[in-house]
Amino acid sequence: MSDARIIRNLALVGFMGTGKSAVGRLVAQQLQFTFIDTDELIENEVGKSISEIFAQQGEAAFRKYERDVVKALCDRRDTVIAAGGGLVAEASNLASLKTHALVVCLWSSPETIWGRVRAQTHRPLLQTPDPLGKIRELLAQRTPAYRQADVQILTDFRTPKDVAQHVLHQFQLARSSN
Ligand code: S3P
Repeated sequence: MSDARIIRNLALVGFMGTGKSAVGRLVAQQLQFTFIDTDELIENEVGKSISEIFAQQGEAAFRKYERDVVKALCDRRDTVIAAGGGLVAEASNLASLKTHALVVCLWSSPETIWGRVRAQTHRPLLQTPDPLGKIRELLAQRTPAYRQADVQILTDFRTPKDVAQHVLHQFQLARSSN
């Protein structure tokens, strides 16, 4: 990792249902960092749920809110950030996160993701007749972006606690070589 990079925060990226929030909360607890979720920040800022934003203002407006949140994150210290699944599909968002955070991507197979999210209704992109097909399509589209993260971790068949330990280890390694 370049000497010029100062790792003050940890960002968890990756597809919906890979466990970013569950793992992020555990890691934040261990590090005694603040935990934030970009979707929650947007919902609080706009005063609407993600579903309402998509329905009333469209996806492009949501992506603009994401870019604004990403800019504001640059001032953070000692924060674990769980990023919305599409956030790093925009290269400038990932580049911005990398200026202050170690970026860790969580991965799961489309089937595991579907198993985890099928009972939930708050993800507008999956409210389609063929959600598993949509997961496959979006995951394939975003794979090149997710691969740009600093660390890649597979979460299939692993508990959030186990994944959190792995993330923590990678974070401590990155900070010690910083
Ligand atoms: C999205 C993922 C969601 C949320 C929105 C769009 C995406 O976040 O930002 O529904 O484009 O993949 P999670 O990854 O936290 O579910």
